[in-house]
Amino acid sequence: MLARLSNTKALHWLGRQLLNRDNPAGYFDPLAEAINPMWVQEYTPARVENIINETADTKTFVLKPAKRWAGFQAGQHVNICTDIKGVRRTRTFSLSSSPLLWQSEGQITLTIKRLPGGLVTNWMHDALQPGDVIGLTEAFGEFLIPEPAQPVLFIAGGSGITPILSQLQTMAAEDYRAPVTLLYYVRTQNDVIAREALQALAARWPALSLTIIATNESDEPRYLRDSDLETVAGIKAREVFLCGPKGLMDLATDLLAKRGLKEKQMHSTFFAPPAQASLNSDQLGGEVTFSNSNLKVGSEGGANLLEIAEAAGLKPQYGCRMGICHQCSCRKTSGIVVNRLTGKVSGPGEEPVQLCVSVPQGPVALNV
Ligand code: FES
Repeated sequence: MLARLSNTKALHWLGRQLLNRDNPAGYFDPLAEAINPMWVQEYTPARVENIINETADTKTFVLKPAKRWAGFQAGQHVNICTDIKGVRRTRTFSLSSSPLLWQSEGQITLTIKRLPGGLVTNWMHDALQPGDVIGLTEAFGEFLIPEPAQPVLFIAGGSGITPILSQLQTMAAEDYRAPVTLLYYVRTQNDVIAREALQALAARWPALSLTIIATNESDEPRYLRDSDLETVAGIKAREVFLCGPKGLMDLATDLLAKRGLKEKQMHSTFFAPPAQASLNSDQLGGEVTFSNSNLKVGSEGGANLLEIAEAAGLKPQYGCRMGICHQCSCRKTSGIVVNRLTGKVSGPGEEPVQLCVSVPQGPVALNV
């Protein structure tokens, strides 16, 4: 771009970009990316150092983020961003390594299962190579190890083991002084992710009790049973961490509640979408103005702003689509929205909103 401008125009262009305090990186990054992708500022570049096959459909990606990345706590997630066929894609994944690996080696790992039809997971499995660079956001999430140490029960299903791997490695390294039980449900024994790492942890860290349960290796599928929970000593006093398919998490929550565990003892992460508030869809909907795109569209019922934008042909950034990652956050300049998760009604003025969980209640204008 600079090569096509006269010197004066180039200086004016440069000045405008320097004065653009909202997003100067948006202007310089394409140039930086072409010269050295590790110079990009909009996100933290992370180089793929290694790719490890875990199971037939799961790989661990060992990444080395640029040093400016702020690190993470065990159990947190990151958004990765990458361009696939010229379109920027963002997705949320759990970190599977301990923060200690980041502190000692400057490395992190993401353990990712290939999803049928999943654009990004399939691209990562098929196209991403050591030496390639992808973008990372800072880490986020509240699925964190209890402090001070308390007895813990982890219940994981399939690739839901990934944040728990990070937590277990961290707890073992820090000699967590309370009983820890992991019940890990997989379809077959071939689907166990990080089997050797889990067994090595159980062998060297006496606080950990590890049980792996294959659900589909007999004629009748065998799901989580109350008798599995029976084996967990002092279960009523445990903090419970759940991560896996929604069916498993719902079943576990139900059985644990029947055993007298309180809601505040149970922690789950984004493999299950948060419950939605019940809203009266008759009072929802309205004209949405996407000011930056010069577009106005009508909406009805409970469609959220992300769905409305996409139906209008726009491509706003998003990650989890569940109100967790904040990738879809943008500025509302006027109008009222209702948060689909909490039922909270916004004020009428300017404020940030998450597109994926905000439903208009009357006319709304956005900086999109
Ligand atoms: S896409 Fe994650 S919060 Fe909206």
